Amino acid sequence: MTTYLMTGCAGFIGSNMVLYMLKKYTDIRIVNLDALTYAGNMENLKEAADDDRHIFVHGNICDRPLVSRLLAEYDPDVVINFAAESHVDRSIADPMIFVNTNVCGTVNLLQCCKEAWYDPEQRSWKKGRKYLQVSTDEVYGALGAEGFFTEKSPTDPHSPYSSSKASADHFVKAFHDTYGMPVNITRCSNNYGRFQFVEKLIPLMIFNAKNHRPLPVYGDGMQIRDWLYVEDHCKAIDMVASGGRSGEIYNIGGHNERTNIFIVKTVIDQLSRRLGDPEINEGLIRHVEDRPGHDRRYGIDPGKIKADLGWYPETTFEVGIVKTIDWYLGNPEWTEHVTSGAYQQYYAEMYGNRKEI
Ligand code: NAD
Ligand code: TYD
Repeated sequence: MTTYLMTGCAGFIGSNMVLYMLKKYTDIRIVNLDALTYAGNMENLKEAADDDRHIFVHGNICDRPLVSRLLAEYDPDVVINFAAESHVDRSIADPMIFVNTNVCGTVNLLQCCKEAWYDPEQRSWKKGRKYLQVSTDEVYGALGAEGFFTEKSPTDPHSPYSSSKASADHFVKAFHDTYGMPVNITRCSNNYGRFQFVEKLIPLMIFNAKNHRPLPVYGDGMQIRDWLYVEDHCKAIDMVASGGRSGEIYNIGGHNERTNIFIVKTVIDQLSRRLGDPEINEGLIRHVEDRPGHDRRYGIDPGKIKADLGWYPETTFEVGIVKTIDWYLGNPEWTEHVTSGAYQQYYAEMYGNRKEI
């Protein structure tokens, strides 16, 4: 049996990962440590509620005694760190929490793993253990019109979010280079799919368009992101966890670059057709003040993970976006729950003063 300690798995990607792994394997156990911030949602894990292979622990990755206890009690083979503050706009408004969770939390996990897995007398690591850091292509900064991020691209982050993720990555590498800790880092492009919080581009546009609310497009909307269906990311993380060479970074992306305005128009087109609602149209689009430090283009070269581990994406954008829209339409109570209360205040603060351009 393989035991995983996975952090942040009440959030978007982590919850998809838990469900993906429980479906794919029988002989596993997943300990899921999550602080249940605004982004953590137990509703995402409903399908795993009665599955005793999934053990949920409500707690913080910065809590050293708790993390040490979990490592001692469950003795996981693999630790996968999804937990993070993940939204660029929030990081611009309040960077410190990003440092606490993304940097200090990661270093705490590394330190606890080292204490649990390293024998200083024998100068050896427990066999078969690995720490996997789930990172992002945003650590590489922005691309011009040409070229792609490879694992050798220098880190050049611009937002407080991407800076905190890059910093965490450097600590992971330092634990490998300094102590010989078995680690991997994955750097994926933008994900989309079910359970994504309604602050990120695609779910925000679905929610607003469905309710005939304005669709805020930052600047000219010609920024490019490389979109990957979330299950293809989960598949890649699983492959790296089991087959990745220690110390290696793996970029993950499916060569699916789209401008933001294309994404917004696709959501409008699909939604209006699915709902037969002519009021969902491009007249809802508002070009608003740009995000400061906005990266113009991300694009991943996934050549290494394809060649080394045989990974490839299975869901095309055309299929994935329809599945995603259908999921949000089919689960209105999920969106209702996450957009009540604190979300209203978030939306007013984030978009209320954003001038139309
Ligand atoms: P998310 O914001 O949806 O979920 C984050 C989860 O972490 C939440 O469940 C939250 O409660 C938990 N969390 C936050 N702080 C915590 C703490 N201190 N201790 C324990 N749990 C804590 O994020 P996501 O989109 O699922 O992203 C998961 C990971 O993948 C992040 O590390 C992110 O940087 C990375 N990533 C995301 C994308 C993307 O497009 N969403 C792309 C590439 C990489
Ligand atoms: P986002 O989903 O926040 O992901 P990231 O910033 O990590 O790439 O944003 C994706 C793109 O969409 C990014 O270029 C910013 C843009 N965007 C808007 O134009 N309007 C919005 O309301 C949001 C949330 C994002």
